[in-house]
Amino acid sequence: MECNVLKDDNLVNLVDTTVKELGGIHILINNAGGGGGGRENPFKISVDDIKRDYELNVFSGWRLCQLVVPHMKKDGYGAIVFTTSMSSVNKSPNMSGYGGSKAAVNHTVANLAHDFGPEVRINAVGPGATRTAALESVLTPEIEETMLKHTPIKRLGTADDIAGAMLYFASPISEWVSGQTIFVNGGGQQTLE
Ligand SMILES: NC(=O)c1ccc[n+]([C@@H]2O[C@H](COP(=O)([O-])OP(=O)(O)OC[C@H]3O[C@@H](n4cnc5c(N)ncnc54)[C@H](O)[C@@H]3O)[C@@H](O)[C@H]2O)c1
Repeated sequence: MECNVLKDDNLVNLVDTTVKELGGIHILINNAGGGGGGRENPFKISVDDIKRDYELNVFSGWRLCQLVVPHMKKDGYGAIVFTTSMSSVNKSPNMSGYGGSKAAVNHTVANLAHDFGPEVRINAVGPGATRTAALESVLTPEIEETMLKHTPIKRLGTADDIAGAMLYFASPISEWVSGQTIFVNGGGQQTLE
């Protein structure tokens, strides 16, 4: 279904229609997100740009949790996974909105675990630099070489690498794990210096 996560009526419709057509919701992956990319010079952007980071990366996922968790609790099972980022723990220039919003994701997830248990678990996956449309738009061979300097597993991530960690959190194999953030990053940091 088409859904703009910045529009509340779209989120409500997404959940209502899914429950009506599929009979329930047991897994929620909050993956839509964006911002940052080293473009957040505080003297060149507006407070609305920063608000958008939080709306996209934090508030939309929080609202979806609020909408789906009652259905999950009713059915006695739910697994929620947020996509956070290495930016939630790295410290870099021009990343304050994106980095701050992703740090908020980690702590929001850790707190919501206490609100949603025992039926519903909630965790986060923090990708390092992963080959998606967003990364390809800024990646050059020089940038890739720099990123790999502090990466023990000498390659950038793929969507499948991230999906593997999401599958772990989404499935009952992780049934005693909640409120956690796991970083999937080749064992290192893909920073630009
Ligand atoms: N690629 C990386 O290196 C990397 C690293 C760390 C974290 N992440 C995170 O991974 C997630 C996915 O990023 P990506 O690299 O695939 O980015 P991307 O820009 O390639 O894809 C983002 C996806 O989010 C969707 N989206 C954006 N705004 C939306 C909205 N308002 N409503 C609904 N969908 C919307 C887009 O349609 C797109 O499918 C994001 O949360 C991002 O912050 C990515």
